[in-house]
Amino acid sequence: MQPSKSQGKKVVLAYSGGLDTSVAIRWLQERYGLEVIAVSVDVGQPCNMDEEVKRAKVIGAAKAYAIDAKEEFAENYIFPSLKANAMYEGAYPLSTAIARPLIVKKLVEVAEKEGASYIAHGCTAKGNDQVRFDVSIGALAPSLEIIAPMREWVMTREEEIEYARVGKIPIKVKKETPYSTDENLWGRSAECGVLEDAAHEPPEDAYEWTTAPAKGPDKPEYIEIGFEGGVPVSLNGTMMKPVALIQKLNEIAGKHGVGRIDHIENRLVGIKSREIYECPAAIVLVGAHVDLEKLVLPRDLLSFKRMVEQRFTELAYDGLWFSPLRESLSAFVDKTQEFVSGTVRIRLYKGSSAPVGRSSPYALYTTSLATYDKGDQFDHTAAKGFIYVWGLPLRTIAAAHKSKVKLGESSVTVVGKVRKRTE
Ligand code: ARG
Repeated sequence: MQPSKSQGKKVVLAYSGGLDTSVAIRWLQERYGLEVIAVSVDVGQPCNMDEEVKRAKVIGAAKAYAIDAKEEFAENYIFPSLKANAMYEGAYPLSTAIARPLIVKKLVEVAEKEGASYIAHGCTAKGNDQVRFDVSIGALAPSLEIIAPMREWVMTREEEIEYARVGKIPIKVKKETPYSTDENLWGRSAECGVLEDAAHEPPEDAYEWTTAPAKGPDKPEYIEIGFEGGVPVSLNGTMMKPVALIQKLNEIAGKHGVGRIDHIENRLVGIKSREIYECPAAIVLVGAHVDLEKLVLPRDLLSFKRMVEQRFTELAYDGLWFSPLRESLSAFVDKTQEFVSGTVRIRLYKGSSAPVGRSSPYALYTTSLATYDKGDQFDHTAAKGFIYVWGLPLRTIAAAHKSKVKLGESSVTVVGKVRKRTE
């Protein structure tokens, strides 16, 4: 983009309140002459939205919005991922990844309302998030142009601080953290600093949401989660709204050291990275949901759904949330959740979250069929006939091949003539 061409136009900036996006407000004005509209989207990260808005204006934003998107995040992004048991590479519940498309949706809504020509975000050139932002913007508003200051400027952190000092940009004086973090309702991600040494155990200060498992309470705590149509609706018998339920679970499970994940991850941009996650509620809920599905879904649906889950997860991770394929897979997943209702009892204890009991009005598990005790309803005489038919193809194959091939020799002996493999 040519700086001069943009004079007087508007840019909507995804404003987190951190150093990078604070500096970006001024930089977008100085470099491109743009009118900056700062947008902070609350997806459950700890922050004071009113303060963010005030600071953005002090820095020079023409307008600043604070949007509470927690409910929408829980219902339209977290729950579809939970229904799909989304765990990237079997480990990461996608907490950062699924918040990005929602943040973009909010930015686009503001851009349309304000008649902005540009959207700006603070993602770096090495991460997945730039892909998620750019691709989602393209999917929702292809005519908007994208500016990613962090991909353009060459300032180090120290230079940014100096730029802020010279330009009198108020930056948050928060305790210096050696990590790059991202937080929302579904989890906390941390990387950089000593965490980049994949051979070493993360120091305790890398964690903020969870107690060290060994220091968790000495007594296990039992909780009961009620599901309806694949989503959690109650905790310990009390009906709760999605956001409150997730927040409460983060607190309870975090206290027991549940949800710590140390993951060597394959980024979409081809880099392997070491990520530390804390996702207590996600670990409990996905574990409980998987468990309940085993009780109520038939075998073929379960195994087919696991393939769909894998693809869903990769699409969400790879920034393709707004793709027709992801949306279609979600439609399939929604259909599978019709009977995923019931309760799961979980034992939380020193870092583990174990389902220890489950029940559902739609349970396919039937004691009278499963039992080896009295009350057994299974027709034992039916087994023989079933196995006769089930095994028929293999017996047929064995008989046909045996008449022609003598097994157990290194050469293949065909009746009538002898042919050695080496010939
Ligand atoms: N690797 C994760 C993802 O791509 C999390 C990145 C979060 N960013 C951070 N600064 N820790 O979804």
